[in-house]
Amino acid sequence: MYELERPVWAQVDLDQLAENMRAIQRAVPGKRIMSVVKGDAYGHGMIPVARTFKSCGIRDFAVALLGEAVELREKDPESTIMVLGYSDPRGARIAISEGITSTVFDYSVAEEFSKEACRLGKEAKIAIVLDSGMGRIGYVPSPKTLEEIQAIAKLPGLRLEEFFSHFATADARDPREAKRQLARYEAFRQELAEVGVHFKHYHMANSAAILNHTGSLMDTVRPGIIQYGYYPRAKEPSKSIKVSPVLTWKTKLIQVKEVAQGTPIGYSQTWRAPRTSLIGTIPLGYADGLTRALSNKGRVLIRGAAAPIRGLVCMDQCMVDLTQIPKARVGDEVTVLGTDGGAVYDADDMAKDLSTISYEVLCDISRRVPRKYIHGKKEGQ
Ligand SMILES: Cc1ncc(COP(=O)(O)O)c(C=O)c1O
Repeated sequence: MYELERPVWAQVDLDQLAENMRAIQRAVPGKRIMSVVKGDAYGHGMIPVARTFKSCGIRDFAVALLGEAVELREKDPESTIMVLGYSDPRGARIAISEGITSTVFDYSVAEEFSKEACRLGKEAKIAIVLDSGMGRIGYVPSPKTLEEIQAIAKLPGLRLEEFFSHFATADARDPREAKRQLARYEAFRQELAEVGVHFKHYHMANSAAILNHTGSLMDTVRPGIIQYGYYPRAKEPSKSIKVSPVLTWKTKLIQVKEVAQGTPIGYSQTWRAPRTSLIGTIPLGYADGLTRALSNKGRVLIRGAAAPIRGLVCMDQCMVDLTQIPKARVGDEVTVLGTDGGAVYDADDMAKDLSTISYEVLCDISRRVPRKYIHGKKEGQ
């Protein structure tokens, strides 16, 4: 419905996506790769992305929510699917029935999963998360935690699958805090082993750790952003894992007009032409994910050159300055994210304009923007 006669689309190059995954696989031989496809695969579309990774041999996926896990399970009955975030006991029945791994960091929640597993006559796959320094979810290492996990391990109907933690600073230039986190995790894992608690898999490494802390890879790694072609440190490509962005966001100029010096542009008239100017309108705005914070700040690419955003970004439209691109015409292709000739404005560039990170820029591209998938140079929805 959204693609009906509106020239706005995000092109996702599945061949490049597969190349990125192969680059990761080459860098971590023998490791189990748990591909992170939460947030609709960082805005790229979870189902086509997971399908592409499966064709590369990936059999383990991580999402944030039970809803995402169920959506993936419908299309993929075999792979491991783990919910990294809070697993509400109200979802225990569906998680267990669908063979989805649930993350637990509380005895009473584990008990609920155990009871539901016994009721269903099935096993509940459980992951336990350790807070080794992120301060987000998870057990803090302590004697009490050790006792509690031992008690969880004795509950009937639970299968202890994953024992994991998450780095807070693996992308930092100073490696010391990440090393401290790793040491905390390793020490606690050892304590668990000493009291006879064992999991099938142990992991901690996100993209930044895969790149910067190769001693933290254990048996499983959890790459997210590098799969999609961006590096955790913006514009700092790695020599060991070469990836490229797979998503290009496009639109077209729908109007071009010359305006006189002093002409105001957009709501609240926040920009006035300092001289005779050429102004173009594009048919997308903040409801598409072109955030309003880009007003008078961001830019798009047209005919290989940058066209600055002028005035406030509207909900569905936005104005750009074509004065430096006098040949611009209605119907010209506009690159909102990507490359055009020698010019580049990617999610790292937009993130810089917004004081955020590529992750957020990609996740913000709304569902209103149809994704077009390129595979073997063929296009599909
Ligand atoms: C628990 C967990 N593991 C792995 C990842 C993947 O991280 P990245 O995209 O930095 O590789 C995330 C993403 O935020 C996460 O929350």
